[in-house]
Amino acid sequence: MQPMPTDSCTRRSSNLPVFPPMQAGDFEEIIFVQNRHAGLKAIICIHSTHLGPAHGGIRRLAYQSEAGALADVMRLAWAMSRKTAMAGIPAGGGKAVIIDHPGLRRHAGYEALGCAIDKLGGRFYTGPDVGTTEADLAAVRRHTSFVVEAQTGSGPGDIAEATARGVIASIRATLQFLYSNHSPAGHRFAIQGLGAIGARVGEWLWSSGAELSVAEIDTAKLRRWRGRPRVRVVPPDRILATACDILSPCALGGVISTRTTLNCRAVVGAANNPLADDTAALALHKRGILFAPDFVVNAGGVIEGAGRHLGFADKTAEAIERIGDTLLTIYRRARRAKQPPYAVALTMADKRLRSGRGPAGRS
Ligand code: NAI
Repeated sequence: MQPMPTDSCTRRSSNLPVFPPMQAGDFEEIIFVQNRHAGLKAIICIHSTHLGPAHGGIRRLAYQSEAGALADVMRLAWAMSRKTAMAGIPAGGGKAVIIDHPGLRRHAGYEALGCAIDKLGGRFYTGPDVGTTEADLAAVRRHTSFVVEAQTGSGPGDIAEATARGVIASIRATLQFLYSNHSPAGHRFAIQGLGAIGARVGEWLWSSGAELSVAEIDTAKLRRWRGRPRVRVVPPDRILATACDILSPCALGGVISTRTTLNCRAVVGAANNPLADDTAALALHKRGILFAPDFVVNAGGVIEGAGRHLGFADKTAEAIERIGDTLLTIYRRARRAKQPPYAVALTMADKRLRSGRGPAGRS
């Protein structure tokens, strides 16, 4: 039995501000989870259930500080709310992070987090994110059903496949907006990252007659691309500056800042938060580069996952196709308002969030 926290704990000053950022971003709930046996320190953040139960994956990272983990989970949960709002599905935004450290017993940690998620009674549904594998999710699944079902990695219903279909719908919409024709044939594309999404998008572009420049740090993944007609393999540090019509970042976030050299007409990719910060969106706009908001483009996965949990699996294909229509609406409004599409999409997402019926109760 551990001693109860003493009164001195309550008097100690805290350097972890919680309520001011929660109030500023209108967050509903933040749950701190610890389990001594597992060495688990985790945070579950529910940004909004106004439109439906919150959805968001589990990120496991060796955060430098607890404040850093809190800031990350809040930023990611808020981004999930924007994503689900713009996807037009009855779901909200949340996220979970596990603070990785040498004392973490990984399997037991994910199990303990599963118990904590279960106690939320369906206010939060989870799935994979950076650092969380299918094996980790299997541990979560032992204690809760509020988690995406096991992935086969192929076939209908695959989450990555669904995300790729949303990116493809977005590329078609962007081509339509720029060239009044949605076919990629004859256009030049640059893809950063040939993982689950980038490879699928690349295959579709290639089979549609596009010219491709591709970069990947894992050379094994380049094997199937080398030597193909209309495909050029580019060193990873040169892909962003490659001359093309559409650049598709499908690797990590934060790759485009105000100073990044780009040589494209539009940026349309799967990567979460590809812009280093919001000022980059304005900088791209001033340079005449069309930036498709990532939280609109890469919503296919959450649409697919939420569809299965919330009983609209028969409508997910349609909702993923609609991503292209939403993007066209954003582009047209942005052109009329002479604003970056990113700013227009943020305003639209905010409005949709505010129009919700109010926080979902525990079921
Ligand atoms: P993945 O891990 O399968 O693929 C990413 C690929 O990028 C890897 O092959 C990696 O080696 C490569 N890479 C990393 N740094 C690179 C660099 N500097 N240059 C070239 N290649 C590099 O990930 P996945 O699932 O394809 O996701 C791609 C992006 O889309 C990620 O940012 C992810 O967060 C985001 N996303 C993925 C979703 C999904 O359903 N898988 C859903 C929503 C967003």
